[in-house]
Amino acid sequence: MGYKATSMPCILRCMCFMLLHWLNAAQDEDLRSCRTAPGDLVFIVDGSWSVEDVNFEIVKRWLVNITKNFQIGQKFTQFGVVQYTDDPILEIPLGKYSTNNDLIRAMESIEYMGGNTRTGTAIEFATDKLFGLSERGPMGVSRIAVVLTDGKSQDEVSKAAEAARKKGVILFAIGVGSETEEAQLRAIANKPFSTYVFSVEDYKGISRIIQVIRQKLCEETVCPARIPIDSRDEKGFDILYHLNFAKKAKKTKGTYHGTKAYEVTSRIDLSEATRSLFPDGLPPSYVFVATLRYKGSVALEQWDLWRIQTRDGRPQMAVTLNGLHGTVQFTTTSHSLTGTQTVTFSQNTKLFDEKWHQLRLLVTEEDVTLYVDDLEMETLTLEPPVGIFINGKTQVGKYVSKETTAPFEIQKLRIYCDPEQNNRETACEIPGVVRTKI
Ligand SMILES: *[C@@H]1O[C@H](CO)[C@@H](O)[C@H](O)[C@H]1NC(C)=O
Repeated sequence: MGYKATSMPCILRCMCFMLLHWLNAAQDEDLRSCRTAPGDLVFIVDGSWSVEDVNFEIVKRWLVNITKNFQIGQKFTQFGVVQYTDDPILEIPLGKYSTNNDLIRAMESIEYMGGNTRTGTAIEFATDKLFGLSERGPMGVSRIAVVLTDGKSQDEVSKAAEAARKKGVILFAIGVGSETEEAQLRAIANKPFSTYVFSVEDYKGISRIIQVIRQKLCEETVCPARIPIDSRDEKGFDILYHLNFAKKAKKTKGTYHGTKAYEVTSRIDLSEATRSLFPDGLPPSYVFVATLRYKGSVALEQWDLWRIQTRDGRPQMAVTLNGLHGTVQFTTTSHSLTGTQTVTFSQNTKLFDEKWHQLRLLVTEEDVTLYVDDLEMETLTLEPPVGIFINGKTQVGKYVSKETTAPFEIQKLRIYCDPEQNNRETACEIPGVVRTKI
């Protein structure tokens, strides 16, 4: 009797606990950012004599610091580390550690070797012995190698780098100090060099490029799609394309004769599962660009040009236009209780005058800057954002808190993953805006 009386609630409690645990896990599984994006990441670090003990310790700290930005695990990021001199040493096999703490401990215990600099051999080794043996290889996760060197390689690097690229490995090259050769770094790295080659004056300098390295690594994992622009391909999301505007909306004349735009009316629904648009969330920094024109009745309304909702329809991210106040609002995620933060730019009536305009936002983890027709308007501070839940919808042109579509015309709606695109993107599609960039 006594046995039964106590065991029942115990089983119930246990079941409740399991249920809660399962619900939490299900929730977390849908929370995405580059922290959680799946990728195989291998660091190929120079352990030659020129590095010296003290700098090798800095490199180890640096690896640990980078690790902290990623969630380690079979479903997330896996790290591998190769130290190289004459012969490469497999310090950390890809995917050996499944928690950040274990991985960090392993990184801290790497011992500096000393020797020559055979970078080509090391790249070949990483391609065969790390990427080649990764269990996730066939699953198509990003394969990224970061080569850190402070000298000239004593063997051939370009063949090894080409062979790695053929196997889908993306190579970054970081040169430290004046002994490195730019041409050799370029032979190692992917193109364009402005994205994949870094040079710093000394080992202390590598800590300064952690944020940009992190941004670049994130771009590789969360932004697989490319937008063709002029002669280059930019990493990013062409939202008009992904939301199938060509099929859903009527074509109309754009900003110039011959440019195509779409007429959005209240009869169409521009929604898509976030999971299919942003399966791994957004990178830490990005550029949002929209070329649009207001249509009569919406002038005084408040509507979301773009938003990402949670499964129960709350906005996690949004660009909101308020015609009555002439303001633009930006909403993104945060650590706060509500899970979001919203900033409002000062009044700017120009956007709302029923002419074509380009609205651009440069979003970083610290702030967001608004540009209208290529003119910088204002920068507002942000708290660090967190990931987004991808189990809801991404929508375009919806009235705030409603499912009704607002009428407007749109020619461009994109998110570029490289924040540098903010300096390249012009507003020359807007009549009267002169091209000021090359
Ligand atoms: C690692 O991070 C710590 C704490 O943020 C910082 O003080 C240190 O300079 C970083 N070191 C390197 C090498 O990145």
